[in-house]
Amino acid sequence: MRVALVYNQKKEDATQQQVPEDATEPPSLGEDCSPALATRFLQFPSPQTLNDLYAEWDTAETIDAVAAALGQIHRVNLVEADEEAYEKLALNRPDIVFNVAEGMHGASREAQIPSMLELLQIPYTGSDPLTLALCLDKSRAKEILAYHHIPTPRFCVISEKSLVSASRLRDGGVRFPVVVKPLHEGSSKGIFNSSLVRDVAELRRQVSMLHSIYEEPVIVEEYLCGREFTVAMLGNGDSATVLPIVEINFDSLPAGVNPIYSYEAKWIWDRPDAPLDIFECPARIPLPLQRAIGRVCRKAYTVLRCRDWCRLDVRLDAMGVPHVLELNPLPGILPDPKDNSCFPKAARAAGLSYDRLIQSVLDLAANRCGLADRKPAFHPAR
Ligand SMILES: Nc1ncnc2c1ncn2[C@@H]1O[C@H](COP(=O)(O)OP(=O)(O)OP(=O)(O)O)[C@@H](O)[C@H]1O
Ligand SMILES: [Mg+2]
Repeated sequence: MRVALVYNQKKEDATQQQVPEDATEPPSLGEDCSPALATRFLQFPSPQTLNDLYAEWDTAETIDAVAAALGQIHRVNLVEADEEAYEKLALNRPDIVFNVAEGMHGASREAQIPSMLELLQIPYTGSDPLTLALCLDKSRAKEILAYHHIPTPRFCVISEKSLVSASRLRDGGVRFPVVVKPLHEGSSKGIFNSSLVRDVAELRRQVSMLHSIYEEPVIVEEYLCGREFTVAMLGNGDSATVLPIVEINFDSLPAGVNPIYSYEAKWIWDRPDAPLDIFECPARIPLPLQRAIGRVCRKAYTVLRCRDWCRLDVRLDAMGVPHVLELNPLPGILPDPKDNSCFPKAARAAGLSYDRLIQSVLDLAANRCGLADRKPAFHPAR
């Protein structure tokens, strides 16, 4: 088939994010990330931690790796998801698009390329614009989960600092401690060590900081203190499969920091030359818990109408009940096993190489759209 790989590529000098005027100068983290220094550093987000404008976008290495995997079987054309994307796709008219474009502007940015493709009637991998937009807005996704009785932390949305009050939280049934996050970002953007807050004063500070950086509402979510997992799913309908579950190992974080998979944990401390031992896959959990997590993920995948693939973040509450934190229907797929990337890691644990994972996603989409006579490279075993 003629496959177009549609992507947004990370800029190398991505330092344009605005820093709040009252941001205190942080200690320099430098090359050496000792726990004591890290703890001090994490008392406030810093210009370094705010270097995140393009955090969701893919590196040249990832784009090349996806193109190479597809190129083993198909004719591949690369299309950057920029302002000319529509014209390029209309002219090129591929048989199918492999979509990894995260988009640039607005709360519906992930839906933009799929919307263009629907208009052009070009099939593509992954979820449709509605699902992508719903999942990027954490509150909308959680409203749907809650409607379907899928456990998810209680929350409220705050669009202005002046609206922060204890009674507002109480009205939403939300109790401290809480996690404060931008409403529609990913890749832990805006989620710092300081995002876990315990009182109204801290909440006000965090909300104000996020509003000034991201200029979007924040979601305030009850903190779940249990173990955390991330779950890769592949497939459609009844044959959608849960890959081996990944556990987030908070013990690998510097001493004294909060047990959350923050921006610092994801992008600053965890480097190929000094990797954190952050993932355990397959997670060492008893079968009943494994089944409970699988059930809740399948249900969330179904009610949000995910297609082909998705990564779901799950955390246990104090009673050990799995809750869905969020769904990522455009999951991160760093190719180098040394980079900690959950989806490829879970696929490898299922015996699926990076190349076969990418080829499988394409096959799943092609089959779903009635395009392929090829069987998916991955044969789901439930
Ligand atoms: N309600 C919560 N209770 C406990 N921990 C939470 C909660 N919300 C977020 N976290 C922590 O913060 C991390 C990042 O949050 P979340 O997954 O919502 O952000 P994201 O930026 O969309 O992540 P991703 O990188 O997966 O796109 C979680 O993996 C978890 O460790
Ligand atoms: Mg997440």
